[in-house]
Amino acid sequence: MHAQRLAWAITGSGHYLRESLAILQTLQDVDIYLSRAAAEIIRQYGFQDQLDATGHKVYQDKTASSIPVERFYEGVYHTLVISPATSNTIAKMAYGFSDSLVTNLYAQAGKTRVHSLVFACDTAPELESEAPRDHMVKVYPRQIDLENVAKLKSFADTTVVEDMAALQSTIMQRLATYHELYLHAGIQVADQLAE
Ligand SMILES: Cc1cc2nc3c(=O)[nH]c(=O)nc-3n(C[C@H](O)[C@H](O)[C@H](O)COP(=O)(O)O)c2cc1C
Repeated sequence: MHAQRLAWAITGSGHYLRESLAILQTLQDVDIYLSRAAAEIIRQYGFQDQLDATGHKVYQDKTASSIPVERFYEGVYHTLVISPATSNTIAKMAYGFSDSLVTNLYAQAGKTRVHSLVFACDTAPELESEAPRDHMVKVYPRQIDLENVAKLKSFADTTVVEDMAALQSTIMQRLATYHELYLHAGIQVADQLAE
């Protein structure tokens, strides 16, 4: 029996990227997965130092078949977090595509019954969003973007959170539940060995 980890996928969104990296710095036993756009956006926003400061292993989207997702079949993860999730990745997830590293993570998490927590960029018809070089811009998600988020909310093994506070508290709840189960299973194994 081995302790499982948390997988965290980042997509190419400036919206709540800073805050997602800040939460990541507070967590342990995490692997980070970047979409190809995320790798660009992190450099564009000047957040490479914040990514490095998390201290977590980072997987990049470099293979056609998304080779790292086999880790879900090895039972490495108890939870997948996708934050921030672009309109693009949400649309693909909502329609069952798995043609990139992050959409594959979501698909394989679903197929191995690993729970996903998603923070979608498009939470409301009107938003303030962070652009590069520390300035804010107004964004108006389209009807299709909001519909895709709503569709994803109905999916099994998926929790779509509305804001960073909800993301953080839901992660904490999952970690508490997981560690309790792990501890319980460990005690049972120890009891069996002692018999
Ligand atoms: C500076 C910059 C900021 C961006 N921010 C967002 C964003 O907040 N939300 C979003 O949905 N797309 C955003 N995009 C567009 C995505 O990066 C683009 O749709 C990309 O294809 C998404 O790929 P991915 O979903 O595989 O990460 C941004 C692009 C740039 C250049």
